[in-house]
Amino acid sequence: MRAPIGIFDSGLGGLTVLKALRHRLPTEDFLYFADTRFLPYGDREEAFLRERGQRVAETLVERGCKALVIACNTATAAAAETIRAAVTIPVVALEPAVKPAAALTRCGVLGVLATTRTLASPRFAGLIARHAGGLRVVTQACPGLAEAIESEGPQSARVAELLDDYVKPLAQAGADVVVLGCTHYPWASAQIAARLPAATHIVDTGDAVARQLEHVLRAAGLQGGGQGRLGLATSGAPAQVNEKAARLWGERLVVDHWDF
Ligand code: DGL
Repeated sequence: MRAPIGIFDSGLGGLTVLKALRHRLPTEDFLYFADTRFLPYGDREEAFLRERGQRVAETLVERGCKALVIACNTATAAAAETIRAAVTIPVVALEPAVKPAAALTRCGVLGVLATTRTLASPRFAGLIARHAGGLRVVTQACPGLAEAIESEGPQSARVAELLDDYVKPLAQAGADVVVLGCTHYPWASAQIAARLPAATHIVDTGDAVARQLEHVLRAAGLQGGGQGRLGLATSGAPAQVNEKAARLWGERLVVDHWDF
């Protein structure tokens, strides 16, 4: 019970999920791994992501985590089954919030922003078939966006330029609900909202993942026991990750380097 919960993403997108987790489970400890050396996951092959996802999950288990959150839609799409088969601790994965979006839409048009790899995955096709039958789903892959949010910040000219291109098709299609299907994108939700009609719902998965994690911990008898501590590690350059995390997270965090 005292062990931390492991959480990982290709970079700092998963911190948007971690915020919701810490809010709901303030007495848990978390160990966050940013696989920055391999960012972006969204443009990589599925086989690579499966292998890498398993390696990251096993490393977090070796570091003593009692449960694992895959805070990355792309890693979930490619590797969730592989990871679940490889580790014995409970695993919580996330996927684009198509189901809640389908319940929210009035006009029957959903927009989904996600990575190329997520949108191309059979898992995403299954999600649409299960929950959005009869609706029009306008998907938009966003190459470059996760990296730009991290390296230049949500308010940068580069992010603005990419969003001008990526959000326009959803606005033109008249989507009244837009799903942020990549955990990096909530960092830019204000910039995304600014490019859509004011009444558009923008949905992400942070709160749903937090509820699911709470449920899973309780069911496994693993809830509580921590003190709200947060550890951060990266496969990339710790000083750079520290800088970027400070801009997004709003405070300086100590970042370890894990070399694998
Ligand atoms: N944050 C990740 C996701 O939720 C992916 C970003 C990337 O590395 O391409 O899909």
